[in-house]
Amino acid sequence: MSASERDVIKIAPEDEADARAAPEPLPADGEHFIPRASVQRQPIDRSGEPLLSIEDIHQVIEGAVIIHDVSFKIWPGEIFGIMGMSGSGKTTLLRLLIGLDKPTEGRILFKGEDITQLDEDGLNRVRKSMGMCFQYSALFDSMTAAENVAFAWRNRKDVTPEQRSERVAQLLSMVEMSGTEDRMPADLSGGMRKRVSIARALMEEPELVLYDEPSSGLDPVMSCNITGLIKKVSTDTGSTAVMVSHDVSNLLGICDRMLMLHDRGVQLIGTPDDMRASDLPIVHRFVHGLGAGEMTEHCSTPTGVIDVVG
Ligand SMILES: Nc1ncnc2c1ncn2[C@@H]1O[C@H](COP(=O)(O)OP(=O)(O)OP(=O)(O)O)[C@@H](O)[C@H]1O
Ligand SMILES: [Mg+2]
Repeated sequence: MSASERDVIKIAPEDEADARAAPEPLPADGEHFIPRASVQRQPIDRSGEPLLSIEDIHQVIEGAVIIHDVSFKIWPGEIFGIMGMSGSGKTTLLRLLIGLDKPTEGRILFKGEDITQLDEDGLNRVRKSMGMCFQYSALFDSMTAAENVAFAWRNRKDVTPEQRSERVAQLLSMVEMSGTEDRMPADLSGGMRKRVSIARALMEEPELVLYDEPSSGLDPVMSCNITGLIKKVSTDTGSTAVMVSHDVSNLLGICDRMLMLHDRGVQLIGTPDDMRASDLPIVHRFVHGLGAGEMTEHCSTPTGVIDVVG
């Protein structure tokens, strides 16, 4: 991912109000909905090397400690959820995982290689194995859906236009957007843009896909649809997913393990059942639901880490 792509986050016109203003019509026969129970995934093997190993990360931005002493591991094939209050550092953490920012301290190992030590060429090499869906879709406004999806292949001389078109069509089909190649982002609903951004993230067959609030701004049904799509993509491609979301019920429904970020650190790592059973106040409030107004700083709790691997 280039510096210019990072900049697109700032200039992308997509916004939550836009997504709400143009609700995606529900398919009459329900065929676009992916029942969670119908998706079969392979069991996660945590005996080998983790895909990602985050070790003692600290991140200070403009003198403020945003992330403090965070460590966790993610294994190949996992769907790993990150939840936390607005401003708790979820996007900051994702940007570190994909090497868009370097941590102030700590190491991030991707398949055993410390990406915090890589130069731009090294990062570009590693990022070919990673895809990122940004918080606001961040599609390029002046490009069609097909051009957005094909963005990662824009400089490839070793593929023909036909091969490129075939790959784009395959990905648009995977996210149930066949036939939208020539549509402009402005003509797409919020849910459709999310799906195009998922297809774009998959262009280089990444082993790791990071999703930042993939369902924000969508109605609950479409949110569930997108979440089901993420599970389908992970199953179909065998890729690992890291998903940040405020939609805790959807996270609990698809994640193998989850992390609760709060007070600049990890409050709890565990399975959805660990989260449901936790009596840490902040976790309990997220999982069992309370108004956002009640989630204030006094929720801070002693850190409790349950890691299913030990
Ligand atoms: N580039 C930056 N400059 C200054 N502060 C920043 C920057 N990036 C993040 N922050 C600060 O870091 C904190 C965490 O921000 P971050 O965007 O990671 O939160 P988040 O958990 O993703 O929130 P949300 O749920 O609203 O998306 C916030 O206080 C934010 O103001
Ligand atoms: Mg964020």
